[in-house]
Amino acid sequence: MCGIVGIVGRSDVAPQIVDALKRLEYRGYDSAGVATISGGRLARRRAEGKLGNLERKLAEEPLPGRIGIGHTRWATHGVPNETNAHPHFSGEVAVVHNGIIENFAELRAELAAEGQEFESQTDTEIVAHLVSRGMRQGLGPVEAAHEALKRLRGAFALAIIFAGDDDLLVGARSGPPLAVGYGEGEMYLGSDAIALSPFTSNITYLEDGDWTVVRRSGATFHNAEGHEVSRKRTRSSAVSFFVDKGNHRHFMEKEIWEQPDVVSHTLSHYLDFAEGKVRNVRTPFDFASLDRLTISACGTAYLAGLVGKYWFERLAKLPVDIDVASEFRYREAPLSKNGAAIFISQSGETADTLASLRYCRAAGSPIGAIVNVGDSTIAREADMVFPTLAGPEIGVASTKAFTCQLAVMASLALMAARARGTVDTEAEREFVRQLAETPRLMSEALKLEGPIEKLSHRLSKYRHVLYLGRDTSFPLALEGALKLKEISYIHAEGYASGELKHGPIALIDETMPVIVIAPHDRIFEKSVSNMQEVAARGGKIVLITDRKGAEAATVETMDTLVMPDAGDLVAPIIYAVPVQLLAYHTAVFMGTDVDQPRNLAKSVTVE
Ligand code: M6R
Repeated sequence: MCGIVGIVGRSDVAPQIVDALKRLEYRGYDSAGVATISGGRLARRRAEGKLGNLERKLAEEPLPGRIGIGHTRWATHGVPNETNAHPHFSGEVAVVHNGIIENFAELRAELAAEGQEFESQTDTEIVAHLVSRGMRQGLGPVEAAHEALKRLRGAFALAIIFAGDDDLLVGARSGPPLAVGYGEGEMYLGSDAIALSPFTSNITYLEDGDWTVVRRSGATFHNAEGHEVSRKRTRSSAVSFFVDKGNHRHFMEKEIWEQPDVVSHTLSHYLDFAEGKVRNVRTPFDFASLDRLTISACGTAYLAGLVGKYWFERLAKLPVDIDVASEFRYREAPLSKNGAAIFISQSGETADTLASLRYCRAAGSPIGAIVNVGDSTIAREADMVFPTLAGPEIGVASTKAFTCQLAVMASLALMAARARGTVDTEAEREFVRQLAETPRLMSEALKLEGPIEKLSHRLSKYRHVLYLGRDTSFPLALEGALKLKEISYIHAEGYASGELKHGPIALIDETMPVIVIAPHDRIFEKSVSNMQEVAARGGKIVLITDRKGAEAATVETMDTLVMPDAGDLVAPIIYAVPVQLLAYHTAVFMGTDVDQPRNLAKSVTVE
């Protein structure tokens, strides 16, 4: 999604702005731009594509100026090209924007009726025109910005500068996050603390509906009604990092390999391995008295929740409702009075997940959030955060955040089971032992990279792939298909194996490989029957199983990946590894932009 930066600095700010934009690259973008004020005049450089293109333009034609704004754009309204790239200008006003102005058509028509001409196809440009119109009507810049904000509906974070004043930056937030950073005689605005991390860790987050007036001497905060309000300063935990790829070709590969470490780190937060117990982590709800748990999330985080459903129901006998957040938020689901809600998000900024959280908050549910970015909006709005300690995840395709989400889910399910008396001390010890083994087993699974790379080469020749799994391997089948399609652009579908004969079997022929995720568990034989059905129709099977499964599978396969033996509870955490590696290497063979696949954003702050 778009990233925005603003700096009121002491010397030329364009290089700092580009530095901050680089730290926002991970969010996904398709064009970028910077505007500054020098000699009382606005100037900008914009470029389609990667930041390198913008840097080249800035090198050819530098932008002087002690105040400026910058932007990475993920296209919503209008194709990704230089004209639609931000900043957008109107008269004395320059604007960058993250989000969507929902009443854009109405406002554009209003401005057009007054004779306003438009340069771009974006919704953002109308914000510049609205502010500029207010100034032409005699309002000062801050008042004009406030009046314009009152007209906007939708989700937005904005940064605005004004040609005549190089000590004034106005920011506004309605939905997507925006942070003000404090420096020595310099002030900053940014979409997140990571963007500002090279300059400051001293941060104030705007609350929803807030706007801010930023000058070198400091910032004032105002609520939607225009009243000045005070907002807390916090020390951001986002270190000034430039996470590099180490010896890896891509962040995704590095993040896949980090999993044994970060999963171990996450599990140790929740489990006492030495005692064989779940730690007494404070929760906003009493698991013992809950009659229902509602889980909501998007994409891969949703699939982690789906695995969690199996665990909560099986271990703790706690019924779980789970839904993708974009559906849940509008479904008007009645919530149980004795229920609780858990939201899962790597970024902690996903618009639909945040809206679902607010729905449950309004309904009076206690709220827990499993998040990776500790000072994100979802983390701040939850009653309690259950952190995933994955560290910064830069690849757009979620890998280590997913397995850490699973680690937290398993720990919470066990915690609930103990509170509800559905596991005894012995069983708890056994589950903790299985979880303690997970990092080692993930390292074992990573040793399959060589054979997986060879298999991926073959897979990259196909246009369609089907993933099948039963029980907790069903969400993994969905995750495998999601991973493959998002980074290799090969069409893939995930199904519960038992559903095969209810429709997808019609697709089976020699052109559609079928990847079956099936550890040797209590229902392994059922998966073997499904594989027989595939084989009987000429389908090519790739079986991901363990030693016992490989011996017991009486079916010819195109390839069989033999995983280390793992307990039923932890299998999904381990089996995530080959599923990720398969997608990764296939994408590498396809030559796609693995870390920033086309059309995708890391942090989805719009609907
Ligand atoms: O930041 P979140 O975990 O809330 O993001 C949710 C999804 O957008 C995310 O998992 C997405 O599906 C990933 N690209 C999957 O790899």
